Amino acid sequence: MIEGQGNERCSLKYLGVESDYESEICRISRLILEKKTDTERWQKQQSVWHKWEVRTRRIGKMIPGGCSVLDLGCGDRKLKEFIPEDCTYTGADLVARTDDTLFLEINDDIWPDGQWDVVVAAGVLEYVYDVKRFFERVRQRSGRLIFTYHVDNVSGDVARLKRLESGWLSDFRFSELVICWESSGWNVASVTGLAKKEIFRQYIFELESV
Ligand SMILES: C[S@@+](CC[C@H](N)C(=O)[O-])C[C@H]1O[C@@H](n2cnc3c(N)ncnc32)[C@H](O)[C@@H]1O
Repeated sequence: MIEGQGNERCSLKYLGVESDYESEICRISRLILEKKTDTERWQKQQSVWHKWEVRTRRIGKMIPGGCSVLDLGCGDRKLKEFIPEDCTYTGADLVARTDDTLFLEINDDIWPDGQWDVVVAAGVLEYVYDVKRFFERVRQRSGRLIFTYHVDNVSGDVARLKRLESGWLSDFRFSELVICWESSGWNVASVTGLAKKEIFRQYIFELESV
């Protein structure tokens, strides 16, 4: 960075000086260009951060008793604590943080087989490239999907940069999500907005098969 120029992001990369910030932005941009999963991040993050607990509790309340639940990108399997006790829970993730977590690699189209009453994907679509295929794969396994996504409140470079800073690999418009789920055999049952932030708003979407 060049100090005192009023442009914090002025890059010295081409003179051989690259800040950690810039190299991380470059790393994420490269993953996006090559449509690769950020395995490095998730393998490092053996324990996932629990700032998501409010969201997990809300999703837990949306799941009725007696259901079989598949939790995609389950992280620490926190959702299991918040669903009714008589539900059966299956967690699947890129990183098996417990022995009973099934292997899932959404971007490489590797999925566990089976049928579930409800599929949950919380904080996961931000890391998925082919959202239409995602909706199709879930539809083959269930008639109900609850997922979250951060939608931009503002358009343009600021939002794009903030997404890169967050390590998010996807950038879907609300309308793109709707087109993709409708063409994959889903109808929307409910949409709940979580706390509104300046640049993004996170929503919980509940879909039912047509
Ligand atoms: C933001 S965390 C959310 C964890 C959990 N669902 C929650 O809400 O607490 C994202 C999770 O998705 C997993 N993940 C990221 N990319 C993935 C991929 N391509 N296929 C499967 N899982 C992935 C990560 O390992 C991580 O556990």
